[in-house]
Amino acid sequence: MTEQRAFRIHNDNQGYRAGIETIPVPQPADGEVLIRVSHSGINYKDALAGTGKGKVIQRFPITGGYDAAGIVEQSRHACYKPGDAVIATGWGLGFDHDGGFADYLCVPADWLVPMPSNLEPRTSMILATAGFTAALAVHRMLLNGQQPEMGPILVTGATGGVGCIAISILSKLGFDVTAVSGKADLQSWLKGLGAKHIIGRDQLPGGDRPLEKAVWGGAVDNVGGAMLARITRTVVPYGNIASIGLAGGIALETTVMPFILRGVSLLGCNSVEVPYPLRSQLWAHLATDWRPEDLEQIVSDTVDLTSMPEVFERMLSGRIHGRILVEIGAGG
Ligand SMILES: NC(=O)c1ccc[n+]([C@@H]2O[C@H](COP(=O)([O-])OP(=O)(O)OC[C@H]3O[C@@H](n4cnc5c(N)ncnc54)[C@H](OP(=O)(O)O)[C@@H]3O)[C@@H](O)[C@H]2O)c1
Repeated sequence: MTEQRAFRIHNDNQGYRAGIETIPVPQPADGEVLIRVSHSGINYKDALAGTGKGKVIQRFPITGGYDAAGIVEQSRHACYKPGDAVIATGWGLGFDHDGGFADYLCVPADWLVPMPSNLEPRTSMILATAGFTAALAVHRMLLNGQQPEMGPILVTGATGGVGCIAISILSKLGFDVTAVSGKADLQSWLKGLGAKHIIGRDQLPGGDRPLEKAVWGGAVDNVGGAMLARITRTVVPYGNIASIGLAGGIALETTVMPFILRGVSLLGCNSVEVPYPLRSQLWAHLATDWRPEDLEQIVSDTVDLTSMPEVFERMLSGRIHGRILVEIGAGG
């Protein structure tokens, strides 16, 4: 095997463009591992990168894909050997280093996590960065004292990849979850994942005073902007808000009052550079006690590399829910 298929993204004097190309298979240097990719998944950022609608890529040309799972083909690190199943998410994948939308991925060994015993490449990529980020948010909230008795947890961007997995984890841990969603037709799907209540994006209680009636124990926020600002004003004393995403905007207009008068904590979540000990701890949870009951319920579509442009457009126009799995399979 000397050549492979890869979904390459270019930005040069011929413009911004992306598509499948044949490129050489990289050779691992000392400390690196070559993986035969069998599965990946699609994140919002993959769609921004693949279409050029967001400036997320740091070097061109690059192979897209923030996530990958597969089998070690060659290893130049003592921790991995050919045949091992592994997961790669985060670090520079897809924006600063060739990513998972290819037959092969070559990365430093310390970017990898060995496949937990009750996951395999396909199921790990149903979770992927979305599940890992949801787990990171829950981990940070628990560490900071979040308890079910403090009140319901709001999950915004509920039908998205991160949101739907956060709902599942939180409900497994005994929290009452209220999902905020713009997709009224997916209410029974959200309830099936563990949401107790569902409200529309414009139905959040509270107004614009610095402090409004406290109704939420805490929140997992994928949306940012005005929605996050309103949440800060309506969380109970010592509740936690995990800030993950910006689907609704990057601005945050609030006051210090929720923080200094209610002790509310805003917990930043960055899934990209999580050191190995925490990374493997969160994957162990995702494989066992935090694993969604029915992972298949989360998959809304399975595609191959040729479908990328169409899926990116669907994602950016808000016409997807749950997780989109990418089946690759080296040479297939
Ligand atoms: N911090 C990190 O490390 C990290 C990791 C992964 C993702 N993220 C970010 O987290 C967010 C969620 O990621 P994802 O993979 O779950 O994305 P996704 O699958 O595209 O889901 C985003 C969800 O947000 C809601 N939404 C979309 N546009 C909105 C708007 N204008 N106003 C309010 N809600 C809106 C939609 O849910 P409803 O239709 O149900 O309302 C949508 O399904 C993204 O911003 C992503 O970039 C951050």
